Parts: sequence; structure tokens; C-alpha cells
Amino acid sequence: MNVELKTLNAEQAADFAADALLVLVPDAAPKGDSPMHSMIAQALKGSDLEAGVGKLLTAYRPAGFKAARVVLVRAGQADAASLRKAVAAGVGALKGPGVAHLGLVASLVAIDNAGLRAAIQAVAEASYVFTTTKPSAKPRALARVSVGVADAGSLRDGLREGRAMVAGVEFAKEWANRPANHATPTMLAEAAKKLARGGVIKTDVLGPKQVEALGMGSFMAVARGSAEPLRFIVMHYQGAAKADAPVVLVGKGITFDTGGISLKPAAEMDEMKFDMGGAASVLGTFAALAELKPAINVVGLIPTCENMPDGLAVKPGDVVRSMSGQTIEILNTDAEGRLILCDALSYAARFKPRAVVDIATLTGACVIALGAVRSGLFSADDALAAQLHQAGESAGDLCWRMPLDDEYAEGLKSNFADMANVAGRAGGAITAAKFLQKFTADLRWAHLDIAGTAWKSGAAKGATGRPVPLLLQYLIDESQRPAPDAAKPAKATRGARRKG
Ligand code: BES
Ligand code: MN
Ligand code: ZN
Repeated sequence: MNVELKTLNAEQAADFAADALLVLVPDAAPKGDSPMHSMIAQALKGSDLEAGVGKLLTAYRPAGFKAARVVLVRAGQADAASLRKAVAAGVGALKGPGVAHLGLVASLVAIDNAGLRAAIQAVAEASYVFTTTKPSAKPRALARVSVGVADAGSLRDGLREGRAMVAGVEFAKEWANRPANHATPTMLAEAAKKLARGGVIKTDVLGPKQVEALGMGSFMAVARGSAEPLRFIVMHYQGAAKADAPVVLVGKGITFDTGGISLKPAAEMDEMKFDMGGAASVLGTFAALAELKPAINVVGLIPTCENMPDGLAVKPGDVVRSMSGQTIEILNTDAEGRLILCDALSYAARFKPRAVVDIATLTGACVIALGAVRSGLFSADDALAAQLHQAGESAGDLCWRMPLDDEYAEGLKSNFADMANVAGRAGGAITAAKFLQKFTADLRWAHLDIAGTAWKSGAAKGATGRPVPLLLQYLIDESQRPAPDAAKPAKATRGARRKG
């Protein structure tokens, strides 16, 4: 889907030759006497174009217009949230096979960069089709979107960022939507290598031998039960001076989570193909970085494997040694995400990062706590938490801060190891975060639990591409902020010892 900006007034918009026009209509009728003006004035006067953002009125071959289909949609105050809703409704009504070129007329509303971005994202979202394993699916017909605005010059940033976000979200959706037999750890690593072909990204892929040499006993324990070999993907995007401390993104890459020996029930187990949603969001963010090229350094770390039951699989009660040197009693093999992330977090320290953010479909408890609206945000660092929260608000990809009181870690105590991998059922999203925190002593760290937001269930089953918009927004904001003095944690918790 190609998106371009055009400076158009209302008269020119009516003359614009696209297959369809989607006209964003403000609450107050704009002044003028062109065919566009009179159509809008009449629609607003009658009761056919109801009040309310996203309400529509469709016309076919109206006099004075070049486009065959013209849809008027109410855009309210034209803020980002209203535009997202209005464009989603409009494109939903227009995504028929005949519409390859859409004219999105935003000349009559007061649209800013954030609004343009939201509109571009909404067009993409409403027209997305997954075709990789479904030959009978009709691919997206929409190939070209021309956004008509009063002054294209002032909206260049919104266009660039909107395009990059769409590229990132669609990359993440593609990989998260693929079934586990079309998205093995090896295939994810190949996708990461392919992203490096453009030249701005560098990808290294480590296999079982190298991961063993690093001492990642926790990550290795999860992969043991699978015939698919694990991969540890390390990506670099360099947009700033080499010496600038990077942001490190760590994505959970469980390509299928059966639960292991602590086997999950059969119902909806297919959805555990989405358990690499964190990894997909890191890949998607890198795809977006390659397009936008912001002035920042970013490292992406993806521990990826399957969680399977098998004769070789790790058993409840087994004790493993993590890269940090801390030992872990694996009481429940279904709490595997934290086991692969903890070693990746230990690895992250070597980059002396300005911040580390891990992204994981980590707990069903987070779905219970926050549903599908907001991702769970955990950080002991108030500034980092505020920055991520704000990035989510700006990008329309919301999250909500959760607590990290040390009392929540009580249940992780073990008689046989430095910690257990699970606590009780209560506060499950928080105890999972407390587990991860034990591996972040030297880091400015935040954790995003995206178990409720990375995909939709039911008839609309599919990946959402979240939280790529939040992450990209955070990195854009971060590229415009001076680096924090030293990458140090907000408060001292029990230290993670590193080997050697
Ligand atoms: N991948 C799941 C988390 C999950 C569950 C995400 C349901 C979305 C929907 C994770 O690996 C898991 O199984 N977590 C367990 C942890 C428990 C054993 C402490 C859970 O949430 O039940
Ligand atoms: Mn699990
Ligand atoms: Zn999982």
C-alpha cells in the first residue's frame, strides 16, 4: 500500500480522479460553493449524515465529482482518536475490489501530524488481509492512497512516521499470524537476516552451541523438548554515533507454547502460535526503523524456541542455572517465557544500554487484569515508565503501569534454588515481572506484558501488530532526548551476578 500527500482544496478534491473518495467531514459545514461544499452542506442539513464520529453517507457517481464512489464520514474534532475511528469506518465501507486507488480528503478538517499518522494507520488496519497460508483469501485491493490536505508541506513528518508504522505493524502481523509450522525459530531468524539486507540493520543469529557457551541454561531448558533448534537473534540498528548507548528491545519468541510437561488444555491452544508476539513486535520495529532511520541506536534481542512436552523436556522440579549464575527451580514448565527472557536480559547488559524494554505475551493474568485495551507496563524507573506510557498515548497504542513492590516476590522463594519460576495465582502478571526484575539489577528496565493486546480471538482472530506503534514512538521520542547520565536502575534490588 503506497501512501502519498497532496495539497488539495475542496474544489480540487472533487476533481480528483481516484476510484473512491473518503471525505472527512467536520462538525460545522465549511464555507464555499463547490460541488463538495454543497454536498456536505446538504448532508449535514438533512438527517442522513448523523452526528457522531464514524457516521457515514455514501454516494454513487454524484454530479461534479470525478470519483465514482464518494463516502462522507464524520470526523468530529479531527483529533487522532476521532480520525482513527472515522477512517476505519470509511475504509470498511469502501474496501471492495473496485477500489485500488483511494482519495482520502482531509482538506476540510484541521489535521496535524499525529492525526495524519493515525489516519494512515487506520487505512492499513481496515484493509489488511493475511494471505500467506490462505490462497483463497482476496488480497488487499487497495494499492494507493492519496491523502488530500490543505498544506502538505507541514505534514511531511506525519507521512514518514505513518508509513514506517504501517510497515512495522504489518511486518509484525505477518509473522505473528503465521502458524507455528510456518514460523519456526529458524524461520524467524531468516526473517531477521532478510531485514538486514537493506544495509541499515545488522543481524547475528546464534544457535544451540553458542547459547550453551554463553551459559544460558534457563533458555536451553525450555528448548529441550522440541525437535526445532533454538535461535538467539541479535539485531543492530545504528542511527547515531557508534559510541551512543543503545536502547535494547527484548522480544519473547516462543513460536508455539504447549505448556510443556505442564501441558495446556486443548481449547484455544492454537492461539499459542501468537506466543512470539513480542518477538514479532521487535522485528516489526526494526522494519520500521529501517524505513524511518531515526538518530538512535537500537539493539534487538530475540530468544526463540518452541515449548514442547517430550522425553527430553524439562520436568517440574528441575533446577537450571541461568546466565546470571542464579539457579531456578522450574515448578511449572508453562511459565517458560520468563525462562527465556531472563537469559536475554542478562545478555542485554553487555551493550551498556540507555534503557532495556522487554515485550512478552507473558501471562494470562495480565489479560484478566487489563483485557485487550492496554498492555501491562512494569518498571521501577519512574521516568522510563512515564516515557513509555506517553509514547503509548501519542501513538494510540495504550499501556498501563502496574506495581512492582518487593512483597510480590515472596512467592518466588524456593527451597532448592535461588528462586522458583512461579508464585501463586494471585497477582500473576506482577510476580512474573518480579521474576524478570531479578535479572535486571544493572539496567534501566521496563517490561510490557502484551498477552491481552498482541492478538484478537474469535471471528476476528489475528495479530494486532501491537505494541509496534508504542515502541516506534518511544524510539522517535528517545532520539530527540539527550541520553540519560548513566544506565543505572532506579533502586537497588537483589543483584544479578554475571558469570566470569
Ligand atoms: N504464553 C502464556 C501466557 C498467555 C496465556 C498469553 C494465555 C495469552 C493467553 C505463558 O507462557 C503462560 O503459559 N503463562 C502461564 C503462567 C503460569 C503457569 C504461572 C499462565 O499465564 O497461565
Ligand atoms: Mn506458557
Ligand atoms: Zn508462553
